[in-house]
Amino acid sequence: MHIPVKNNVTWVGKIDWELKRFHGEEYSTHRGSTYNAYLIKEEKNVLIDTVWIPYAQEFVDNLETEIDLNDLDFIVMNHGEIDHSGALPELMRRRPDLPIYCTAAAVKSLKGQYHGDWEFRTVKTGDSIDIGNGKSLVFVEMKMLHWPDSMATYLTGDNILFSNDAFGQHYAVNHPFNDLANQEELYAECIKYYANILTPFSALVARKIDEVLALNLPIDIIATSHGVIWRDNPTQIVEKYAAWARDYQEDQITLLYDTMWEGTRRMADAIAEGIRDSRPNTMVKVINIARTDKNDVITEVFKSRLILVGSPTIGKGVTNATAGILEMLECLRFKNKKAAAFGCYGWSGEGVPRIRAWLERAGFAIADEGLGVLWNPDIDALENCRALGRKLANA
Ligand code: FEO
Repeated sequence: MHIPVKNNVTWVGKIDWELKRFHGEEYSTHRGSTYNAYLIKEEKNVLIDTVWIPYAQEFVDNLETEIDLNDLDFIVMNHGEIDHSGALPELMRRRPDLPIYCTAAAVKSLKGQYHGDWEFRTVKTGDSIDIGNGKSLVFVEMKMLHWPDSMATYLTGDNILFSNDAFGQHYAVNHPFNDLANQEELYAECIKYYANILTPFSALVARKIDEVLALNLPIDIIATSHGVIWRDNPTQIVEKYAAWARDYQEDQITLLYDTMWEGTRRMADAIAEGIRDSRPNTMVKVINIARTDKNDVITEVFKSRLILVGSPTIGKGVTNATAGILEMLECLRFKNKKAAAFGCYGWSGEGVPRIRAWLERAGFAIADEGLGVLWNPDIDALENCRALGRKLANA
């Protein structure tokens, strides 16, 4: 199944409706995904990227219905990660002499993963290749967006930016164009993708967007490697990235808690009541982190200006779900957000100071030393929780 994109550019990727987990178990894909690859047929015939390993055979078989593999002049690998390079070994088995254009870092990642004795031709920002009919491919390195090897490829004449992971989202759609997608679902997947994958690289994202815009290249289409192709007002997603990359936050406070005997859950409810009393227009989300998809949790943190993390003390520490989220927060390195800790305990009460230290390590500004409650909260303790909520609502 191939889909025309523009003139002699065709989508030759794979829609994966079944995908529920990506990066092993690290990223949930509630709405599946796509692995977008593109075929350009000018005087030179060029393939941009491939698909994930399980679909390698299917991908190359389908590609052969579009072009005789011997007529391919070269492949551009914008990124070496397996979801885009997975079909490369099968393609190279059938066309072992096919030149591969990629960054120097991608040579390392592709060799490291597949150990193939292939003909690599390295490119860097500003390099271009004439593909005939007045058109060229221009390469732009996208180092650490999100791998060292990432790059984008721009097709002059058709004004298409093949951006790979950047501006993508895990979203299976039958006809992958942004104007044909459900906009609410599309943007929910875009912000989740940014929050969970690109947050640590936000400073680089902001700089790269400025760098690309300064080139003054006309961009008619942004052809990503996951989800929709942006053809209707394509720079709308660039503007979103520019906003998300600058320490994005909304007027939202999110309470993340785990609970064993409902004490910490009751604290969370009371803190939320206090916030409502003090700032009724602030969006408040109260989330049991043990029962909620961890990537959806991270998306809510991304939107927040303040978070509260609560766990009962267990074994001188915090619950497994709490530790998992705190580890994710530390790795994602959110900026310009505040935080506080809370939780019940029975005798020693290490949970709250442990969460507070972890939040501090993760780069959050500590808005309050936090609140620990001995045993199950009574009326006075719940009032203390409401008072904490009232205080932090305006933090
Ligand atoms: Fe979609 Fe970084 O791979």
